[in-house]
Amino acid sequence: MKTIDQLLADGVAGKRVFVRADLNVPLDGTTITDDGRIRAVQPTVAKLAEAGARVIVASHLGRPKGAPDPAFSLAPAAVRLGELLGTDVAFATDTVGDSAKAVADGLADGQVAVIENLRFNAGETSKDDAERGAFADQLAALADLYVGDGFGAVHRKHASVFDLPARLPHAAGYLIATEVGVLKKLTDEVQRPYAVVLGGAKVSDKLGVIDHLLDRADRILIGGGMAYTFLKAQGHDVGNSLLQEDQVPVVQEYLERAKTKGVEFVLPVDVLVAAEFPDLKTKAPAHPETVAADAIPADQQGLDIGPETRKLYASKLADTATVFWNGPMGVFEHPDYADGTRAVAQALLDSPAFTVVGGGDSAAAVRILGFDEKAFGHISTGGGASLEYLEGKTLPGLAALED
Ligand code: 3PG
Repeated sequence: MKTIDQLLADGVAGKRVFVRADLNVPLDGTTITDDGRIRAVQPTVAKLAEAGARVIVASHLGRPKGAPDPAFSLAPAAVRLGELLGTDVAFATDTVGDSAKAVADGLADGQVAVIENLRFNAGETSKDDAERGAFADQLAALADLYVGDGFGAVHRKHASVFDLPARLPHAAGYLIATEVGVLKKLTDEVQRPYAVVLGGAKVSDKLGVIDHLLDRADRILIGGGMAYTFLKAQGHDVGNSLLQEDQVPVVQEYLERAKTKGVEFVLPVDVLVAAEFPDLKTKAPAHPETVAADAIPADQQGLDIGPETRKLYASKLADTATVFWNGPMGVFEHPDYADGTRAVAQALLDSPAFTVVGGGDSAAAVRILGFDEKAFGHISTGGGASLEYLEGKTLPGLAALED
């Protein structure tokens, strides 16, 4: 994979460089609640600008339906990028239209622009190669060189991720190089004991990675909404908790396979329950109760791991050499259900292991709960991307940068 340093050595002054970033940050209205992904791509953008490139930064944000939608505008991200760079950043109000062309043409050497959300154009995510290719052709006309640095999107076969690099001389940015370097330590060179903590809402999102990890990890700890499908698979009633009934047989098969392979599955022994899902806007006190994981009342739902589980998980992480964590343990956005996620983050910090926090929600949780992100071995910017990498899949956005 050609690196940005090789591109810089060849000279980028005066060249229009298209940087495919992942600026898909959480927003509350137009306020960015976690700017980690913008900070993560800043070194690449800054380095190119310093070297005299005319930098065009592009990304998706959210999942708009192939047409402009102001709720998903990248304008706030462009402002934040400008603040981080300490310079004015121009903003194009479209992707390949008059505004984008004018902004790209108007850039002086060393200047930076952001173009509007790529998913405002249906060609970006199209399953049709020709439609994606046509959009990639239009994007290619904006630039001379391509730098792939949107690690969070490399698992997407999208026009700007997969088709565009084939149309321009290309290289990987610093973020992608770092992310891939770290994930290699979890696949090719893993130090044992290797524990994986998986949380988040849906077990179906994690089946592929669990399947793969059954041949690789020593210990798998489960929390979050997906834990209830595991508890059900063990024969427990889970009341009104999140449950993917159709996944129960698969999960049962994984629990069996883990036994024969000597992989330890660790499930919650107690959970915090309430009758209602908490109000995340008002954050009104939720008054949860703690119950044993095998005694969830029929009219209650589990919303976080309980205190005994927090201790158990900390002990299971204390003697590890490598830990990968993806997905919160509960509804951490509400203070009454943040302790499980906080306890896992703390256990990672207390453990001597090389710790990797994978992506999206768990990375945001670490920052929102006030942990010093530098204390972790690595906080990935890619949730789905890091999981698919660990599954051993070929990621389109990395494959496209290979040749
Ligand atoms: C993410 O948030 O994981 C990336 O930005 C990819 O977003 P997507 O799941 O909407 O493709």
